[in-house]
Amino acid sequence: MKIGILGGTGRMGQGLARGYAAVGHEVFLGSRSPQRAADIASELAGGISGGSLSEAAEFGELVVLAVPFGDAAEIVEAVQDSLAEKIVIDITNPFGAVPPGQVAGIENNSRAAASARWVAAYKTTFWKTLDGGRGHDGQPLDVFVCSLDAEAKAVVMELITATGFRAVDCGGFENARTLDLMVPLMIELDGRHQTDARSSWKFLG
Ligand SMILES: NC(=O)c1ccc[n+]([C@@H]2O[C@H](COP(=O)([O-])OP(=O)(O)OC[C@H]3O[C@@H](n4cnc5c(N)ncnc54)[C@H](OP(=O)(O)O)[C@@H]3O)[C@@H](O)[C@H]2O)c1
Repeated sequence: MKIGILGGTGRMGQGLARGYAAVGHEVFLGSRSPQRAADIASELAGGISGGSLSEAAEFGELVVLAVPFGDAAEIVEAVQDSLAEKIVIDITNPFGAVPPGQVAGIENNSRAAASARWVAAYKTTFWKTLDGGRGHDGQPLDVFVCSLDAEAKAVVMELITATGFRAVDCGGFENARTLDLMVPLMIELDGRHQTDARSSWKFLG
């Protein structure tokens, strides 16, 4: 599959790119600085190229939104024509920018490209765990997934599983509100217990 990553030069973007390329996907890193994205891509594994944000949105059959939440909706709006009918994985964490208990980050971002097929994932996945998706005990870490589109959710869950994680179906966007709120606590616990951005939530179901 062709995967475009908006914010592909970042910690999450590069980690996801490596994981997707390792299982045979073609990845394109999108950046505000196309040259920087091309340079980073050439240093990563084969199967990864880089350029502008609009090129990444156009390239991907599936597109990952991996930019800071505060900039996400504006970026999505700018490339919305390229996202029509495509699956978009929203990994952005709003960190209080969205009033708690009202809407999830994905409810906000998805309004900027309503014809895309939105899936929230990787919210509670620290960037340092993207190298294989294993915890301290060697077991697969959980990636929680929310979407209103069952088919798109299934595609993303398969992608997550292929890269070493366990994908956990969390229903629709209403549960993404809860995931958004789990993130600040995870970061706080990670610091308190000095787990070096390698901790994660686990559903013991
Ligand atoms: N870090 C984590 O462990 C983690 C875990 C789960 C989810 N997330 C979420 O994933 C997203 C990315 O996080 P990250 O840690 O990878 O951040 P990061 O390392 O700072 O990378 C973010 C990337 O977004 C791009 N960017 C920054 N400002 C932008 C703007 N105004 N317009 C367009 N692009 C912009 C930058 O690329 P260029 O400068 O090349 O354009 C940058 O490489 C965030 O929404 C974060 O909340 C992070």
